[in-house]
Amino acid sequence: MTTRALITGITGQDGMYLAELLHDKGYEVFGLVAGQNNPKADLLAVSHPYVKVISGNLLDLVSLIRAVAHAKPDEVYNLGAISFVAYSWENARLTSDVTGGGVLNMLEAVRYFQDSSGHQVRFYQASSSEMFGNAQEVPQRESTLLWPRSPYGVAKVYGHYMTINYRESYGMHASSGILFNHESPRRGVEFVTRKVTRAVARIQLGLQTGVTLGNLDAKRDWGFAGDYVRAMWLMLQQDTADDYVISTGETHSIRDLLDVAFDEIGIPDWDDKVTIDPTYVRPAEVDLLIGDSSKARSVLGWEPTVTFDQLIRSMVQHDIAEQTALSTQPQ
Ligand code: GDD
Repeated sequence: MTTRALITGITGQDGMYLAELLHDKGYEVFGLVAGQNNPKADLLAVSHPYVKVISGNLLDLVSLIRAVAHAKPDEVYNLGAISFVAYSWENARLTSDVTGGGVLNMLEAVRYFQDSSGHQVRFYQASSSEMFGNAQEVPQRESTLLWPRSPYGVAKVYGHYMTINYRESYGMHASSGILFNHESPRRGVEFVTRKVTRAVARIQLGLQTGVTLGNLDAKRDWGFAGDYVRAMWLMLQQDTADDYVISTGETHSIRDLLDVAFDEIGIPDWDDKVTIDPTYVRPAEVDLLIGDSSKARSVLGWEPTVTFDQLIRSMVQHDIAEQTALSTQPQ
């Protein structure tokens, strides 16, 4: 029997990597896509033609009940969310509803399907290191107190505890992956790594002269998204559901990111290329994230394969190729 998986957030960076991983393992992959005439769905149809797209929205419980009934999944990966932290201050209600309330809706849809069909489903929730916020312990692990610093972080805490609650209340096989920042050439350009690597590529090609950023002193534990989706899958292969921190165990500042990205194009001193704009500084910052993923390493046998240096350099090279292709396209 072919294993069936339903992924919410299929058009995002993680959804695409996970779809590839599951497809390679022989899964039948279903993806939930929101919105009418969603351009990302058209791109997905070209890049991932094997994904069976289902229309649905995390805000609409009935659409989720229908989606789960249609996919009849063995595994559900709830990756869908409003995921840009800065946006969440301006859209706190919507972020709370989608990123937080959407988890409850998915859990309910899965529970309803299980109860009505007798078919057991394993559930993965995409929790986030943003939940640690004003981090109370260094490095952060599964038991570290959660102290979110943004509406996004608060919404993720809600989804995280709701996942634990459904596991404890209904015995659901519901696991939560507390993933630290993970990047790739597929990362959206609103996030700082891709914003920097794309700008550096365009500077190299003479298409722009500099980049405007916010707080350069924040530190993040950055890994490669392709490694992190493997951890999601491993969590659902365990006999018992649980929560796991997924991280590299190394932290770097935005300055370190700039050092590596500019070094890749032979610019050791980037001071005159970077402008600080206070509008990019957040109302409350998460200053330092660094994860202790020893539980995932020992229980799941997971470990990251791509270093920070390799990741950022590969993103710069990808962006140079992409920007070159775009700038030489006939108008
Ligand atoms: N986006 C952005 N743009 N961030 C900037 C900029 C800028 O111009 N300048 C400085 N930063 C700093 C932010 O203040 C933050 O401290 C850091 O760069 C990283 O920002 P993002 O790349 O936007 O990621 P994030 O850490 O806020 O959130 C990401 O990681 C979480 C996991 O911890 C997102 O992917 C979340 O969805 C995810 O949960």
